[in-house]
Amino acid sequence: MRAVEAGFADLAIARPRAVAGGRSIQLCQQCHRSPGAKIERTDPRAVRFAATSLKWSSCFSATGGALDCVTCHDPHHNAETEPRHYEAKCLSCHAGADRGGSAAPTRRASVCPVNPRNGCIACHMPPISGQIPHSTFTDHFIRVRRPSDATR
Ligand code: HEC
Ligand code: HEC
Ligand code: HEC
Ligand code: HEC
Repeated sequence: MRAVEAGFADLAIARPRAVAGGRSIQLCQQCHRSPGAKIERTDPRAVRFAATSLKWSSCFSATGGALDCVTCHDPHHNAETEPRHYEAKCLSCHAGADRGGSAAPTRRASVCPVNPRNGCIACHMPPISGQIPHSTFTDHFIRVRRPSDATR
């Protein structure tokens, strides 16, 4: 991962899982949030700033920050490109009370009425292009997307 290659020297980056829930965001957002002026949720540029937009997600706010950068990313490796890696994280909370996984802090998080098993990322964290030419960003504002959200 380029941040690590760039030599970001912080013990908590070296061992992010030793950092309590929500706290890796404090570290990661030093580079991955919008600099300067506050950015609005409706601003299409928000997809460039994972830490800014993830915090708008109710998965984050309704769990006291249990959904953290290191829930999904290992800072020592390039981002996993296999959607199932991420979907397993979703299902650790959104699998329903009866099947509620082990470590899920909120086992009763709601279950998707559209597809409770897979495809979560394509529908709820889609890649968005158009902000920087030839680049896509992943929308970290996890939510029910309406047709008007198509480009942001
Ligand atoms: C619920 C899982 C999840 C969480 C939590 C999460 N990410 Fe991601 N992130 C993803 C997915 C999915 C991708 C796209 C991976 C791919 O296919 O390349 C991604 C990609 C990225 C990328 C590459 C650029 C892009 O937009 O595609 C960056 C940078 C990133 N995440 C930073 C962060 C940071 C910083 C945090 C914490 C604020 C965070 N992520 C939290 C799922 C997550
Ligand atoms: C010192 C600044 C800095 C810090 C701190 C930082 N990053 Fe990054 N990160 C970058 C830069 C620069 C890139 C490359 C540009 C991009 O993809 O946005 C990057 C890329 C990424 C990617 C995409 C990697 C890929 O495969 O393309 C992910 C995921 C990511 N960072 C997650 C994190 C997480 C999680 C943390 C906290 C543990 C973190 N970053 C902390 C600067 C940083
Ligand atoms: C740490 C537990 C946790 C994780 C992991 C998690 N969520 Fe959530 N999520 C919640 C909670 C709690 C809520 C708010 C209450 C509810 O809807 O059940 C929520 C709300 C949502 C909502 C409704 C938001 C809205 O539009 O109002 C969606 C959609 C969602 N999550 C999808 C996902 C997806 C997709 C993933 C994986 C990328 C994921 N969640 C990961 C706990 C989590
Ligand atoms: C084909 C697109 C699609 C896929 C795949 C999908 N969802 Fe959804 N999801 C939706 C839509 C659309 C809604 C809003 C449904 C409504 O309000 O009628 C929704 C609603 C939700 C909600 C809110 C439920 C509530 O009661 O408020 C959660 C949580 C959620 N999805 C999580 C997930 C998870 C986790 C996955 C993967 C296991 C997933 N979704 C897969 C499209 C999808």
